[in-house]
Amino acid sequence: AGSRQQVFVLVGGTGDLAMRMLWPSLAMLDQDGFLADNLRIISVAREDCGTEVCVDRIGNAVTKRVGESLEPGTLARFRKRIVHVALDAAKDDWGAKLKAELGDIEHLDVVFFLSVSPSLFKPICEHIERAGLNKAPNRVIIEKPIGRDLASSKVINDSVAHAFDESRTFRIDHYLGKETVQNLIALRFGNVVFEPLWNSQTIDHVQITIAETVGVGERLGYYDEYGAIRDMLQNHLLQLVCLLAMEPPSALSSDALRDEKVKVLRSLKAITVDNVKDHTARGQYGPGFADGHPVAGYEVEKGSPSNTETFVAIKAEIANWRWAGTPFYLRTGKCLPSRSTEIVIQFKPLPHSIFGTEAKANRLHIRLQPDEDISLTVMNKAPGLTAEGTHLQSLDLSLSLIKAFEGNGEKAPRRRIAYERLILDALQGNNAQFVRRDEVEAAWMWVDGIIDSWTKTSMKPQQYPAGTFGPVSGYRLIERDEGRTWND
Ligand code: BG6
Repeated sequence: AGSRQQVFVLVGGTGDLAMRMLWPSLAMLDQDGFLADNLRIISVAREDCGTEVCVDRIGNAVTKRVGESLEPGTLARFRKRIVHVALDAAKDDWGAKLKAELGDIEHLDVVFFLSVSPSLFKPICEHIERAGLNKAPNRVIIEKPIGRDLASSKVINDSVAHAFDESRTFRIDHYLGKETVQNLIALRFGNVVFEPLWNSQTIDHVQITIAETVGVGERLGYYDEYGAIRDMLQNHLLQLVCLLAMEPPSALSSDALRDEKVKVLRSLKAITVDNVKDHTARGQYGPGFADGHPVAGYEVEKGSPSNTETFVAIKAEIANWRWAGTPFYLRTGKCLPSRSTEIVIQFKPLPHSIFGTEAKANRLHIRLQPDEDISLTVMNKAPGLTAEGTHLQSLDLSLSLIKAFEGNGEKAPRRRIAYERLILDALQGNNAQFVRRDEVEAAWMWVDGIIDSWTKTSMKPQQYPAGTFGPVSGYRLIERDEGRTWND
């Protein structure tokens, strides 16, 4: 981008995601000095509300989200960067009008963020291309759902690829912007102690849970078409699997990293009609109590019967030398008892115990949400003297990151919105933390196989009471394998 003036074009600037996440992220980047002084922001939406009204709404949204972190002066400075332009993607003048607003495009470095329904990616990219706004270094950020299967994802990716080549297409998976998720890479490859043990010789199995207490609420229209497997597993959960299972990349550069991630996705063992009942569980929340409220149940909320799952659990196997024999149990759902994202790396038992049955296998517990904490259970001698000799006791070696900073006498850092990191990376042209097209497609290929097997075996979601950890089949999936159970 060099000396070109940066412009951030937020298409869908008055939308829900923009107000909840994107504007607050941009404002915080501005406050922290990450935006070039002359960076301009253009909000684009069909709505003709005018810059003044739009900027007032943005100000309110920013205050609501990050009010307690705002310093005096931030908002005033931030608001001055923003112009709102009313454009309708169904009209031919979209590109020309935007171009007029942009000015001398030869000297600009434009980042488009398409915070709109994927059905608009194609017409908008066509407008951008026809107006000649797609030329390097300009780039585009898009976000899921990138299709609801492999075929539809290809259509979407093709329509974007017509205007922007892959190196200038930034596909967001907001989990990759989470501090704690990025820390997985630091933990694995910034230490010497884990990597030699990070394989099926030493690790019995891995569990990843993304539990949410909320139901689907106002997003029912979208959600009913997607369900938990497409909404959470195809993207966020599989990205976590990639980061945990990939081979050490040779560098942190975008292709080195993504080459390793895509290999993991391609190594996922297909789930077929023969094993889908043992390897997967589908659930849908029924009446119950979650998030402190009574819940009527998914079908009642929808007002008609539905085969959409709000809970999914999968026993995933990675067919390569490092992981053969070590399953990854994955689960996610809505209306579960607690909001938590956590990874459990369960190590194998001692090859030979000189302490009888007291020695328990080590376990590395990585909590990503709501609080960040990493702890490793280690066996210790229980202190004191007993007539029977040595007793063992399991203790947690805990690395609470917040506490670690408090210990230094520093204020714990503000928990950043995942989009802050990702928007900054996109402004800088670094796409390492964005999902490459081949990753999206490899993930869909595996997920399509599962959904297809569900259809062929008529495997419907089983009801679970809202506020519980999913249907019984979700427990059976892991407990069928001896000695294993979810770490609830
Ligand atoms: C989104 C899903 O991608 O991630 C939502 O569409 C889900 O259904 C959300 O609630 C969870 O994200 P987070 O950051 O709150 O864990």
